[in-house]
Amino acid sequence: MARVPEELIDQIRQSVDIVDIVSDHVVLTRKGKSFLGICPFHDDSSPSMNVSQEKQIFKCFSCGAGGNSFTFLRDIENISFIEAVRKLAERAGINLPDTRDRNPEQQEAYDELYRANELAFKYFHHMLTEDARGEEARAYLENRGISREIIDSFGIGYALNAWDGFLAAATRRGFSPQALERAGLATTRQNGGGFYDRFRHRVTFPIEASTGRTVAFGARALDPDEQAKYLNSPETPVYNKSATLYGLWRGRDAIRESGQALVVEGYMDLISLAQFGVENVVASSGTALTADHARLLRRYAPKATLIFDGDAAGTSAAVRGIGSLFEVGQEARVVALPAQHDPDSYVREHGPEGFQKLIDSAMSAPDFLVEQIAKREDLSTADGKARATHELAELISRIGDQALRQFLIKDLAEKMGLSEDSFIQVIQNDTRRPPQRRTQDPTEPAPPPFDPRPRDERELIILMMQSNEAADAVLQHIPSADFSNGTYRQIVDIIAQNRKQNHAVDVAYLIDQTNSQQLSRIISDMSLELGIADPDQEIFPLPDYIRKFQIRSLDKKIDEVEKQLRNQMPPEQQRQMLEKHRELTSQKRELINPVSQVISS
Ligand code: UTP
Ligand code: MN
Repeated sequence: MARVPEELIDQIRQSVDIVDIVSDHVVLTRKGKSFLGICPFHDDSSPSMNVSQEKQIFKCFSCGAGGNSFTFLRDIENISFIEAVRKLAERAGINLPDTRDRNPEQQEAYDELYRANELAFKYFHHMLTEDARGEEARAYLENRGISREIIDSFGIGYALNAWDGFLAAATRRGFSPQALERAGLATTRQNGGGFYDRFRHRVTFPIEASTGRTVAFGARALDPDEQAKYLNSPETPVYNKSATLYGLWRGRDAIRESGQALVVEGYMDLISLAQFGVENVVASSGTALTADHARLLRRYAPKATLIFDGDAAGTSAAVRGIGSLFEVGQEARVVALPAQHDPDSYVREHGPEGFQKLIDSAMSAPDFLVEQIAKREDLSTADGKARATHELAELISRIGDQALRQFLIKDLAEKMGLSEDSFIQVIQNDTRRPPQRRTQDPTEPAPPPFDPRPRDERELIILMMQSNEAADAVLQHIPSADFSNGTYRQIVDIIAQNRKQNHAVDVAYLIDQTNSQQLSRIISDMSLELGIADPDQEIFPLPDYIRKFQIRSLDKKIDEVEKQLRNQMPPEQQRQMLEKHRELTSQKRELINPVSQVISS
């Protein structure tokens, strides 16, 4: 494993604020000393994740995920610990020794995909903006009213009208054609006759993952006779289509600030809106919004507004999108564009104010759904009404969030002229299986459940986390071997190690010292219990704890001696055992009725 010196890791952690790190991915609201947000590590519907600025840790009360800035980044971005350290170092402006070459093989494979996409990004952008051969593409974009500023800010590029433009450039820089194929940038001929560029004679739009790295491209043909107007990268290990929304990284702050994401279909729609100053937009790139997309959006804003063509295809995409948003408990609104318009053409014709009016006129999803159904079914007949009810029931049955579910049942029943009870009846009859719960991250097998007993061992460690003095006092009087719970022994060992090196006890630091996710969860759990107590108020009287521990440890030894005394043994040995017994019991007596204080604090 690559090593970064501990002091450096420590320094990096102290230079960043976990509230900032988590805020990149989760909307946080302040609640007293901590921040609360929707946990991104499970299918959360109400804010269960607590982020403590003071302790620099996060903790989900619902799924148990917890840790510090590094582990948050590691788990949310699915990167290695060392990669998370590197990212935060960069953020903090701290130089790290290059440990890349010592990374595990798999990390190297991922890195190669990222680097290939990064090179393609630079290469395409260069061709568009600097190369003579980019003239046609430049003219095209100019013609569509795209400014140079926007071209740069979106990293728009051009793929040459050639079979091996990027291929040649990338192989010269050491990439194998096979690696480029893995990255989705090259393809092979059907008959196995070698590699060629996937994107040719197209304007390219780099697609960033929710981590800000370029992982794929969308590309629009320049030749109007080209069959496929748009071509996208295939899925690769770094590009998961259903976990990626075009424009999300760039627009995330605007989405957070406005409290809603506008969802459009096309790259050009999003770019055009950005040029007119509308930045809280994502594009689903020609497909309906999936539940994974919705889950992603929910991290940034509680509301999403779908903007789609008023035609049949657009409407059905909107209905599916609403289903996805509902499934994750997200509030949905919809805007149908007038015929012949997409957001790009609309904002150009009506300007940003006109576009804003359109957004303000958005329909609530239930209104829209009922309106759509009413177009197809005759709601004045029993038959039509029944079919419509079943259709809505299907949608409702997918909603996991109780509050949203109840609201929609009430709202839709009213709109359909049904009683709530009969609507609920239909939903129940139609639902053969309960909605599937999403499984947890499959990369790590679930550890056996942790048994937090005994309570006083737990509390003692919580106490040790509170201050150097408390930790030292405990360490001085109680060896880690006296803890009966193996996990607690491990934690005490880590604390002891830290104190030996004169490092202050600090939960975020302790978490760095563990290499198990379970252990770091347990530590962050415990430290939050500590947070419940007012540190100035001594609710855990340290000397009492230590005394209790010592007494228990003596009890164990006394038990042991008594057990041995029940056996036959030579008189000399028996005498020694009895002596030992006397000694232990008098030690115990003194602890129970202290003549002198055990420790003065
Ligand atoms: P359209 O084909 O309706 O786009 O696809 P458009 O508005 O006419 O395209 P422009 O404005 O002339 O460039 C709608 C959007 O769906 C995405 C593209 O973003 C496109 O803008 N799309 C479509 C893909 O990503 N892949 C496809 O294969 C098709
Ligand atoms: Mn268009």
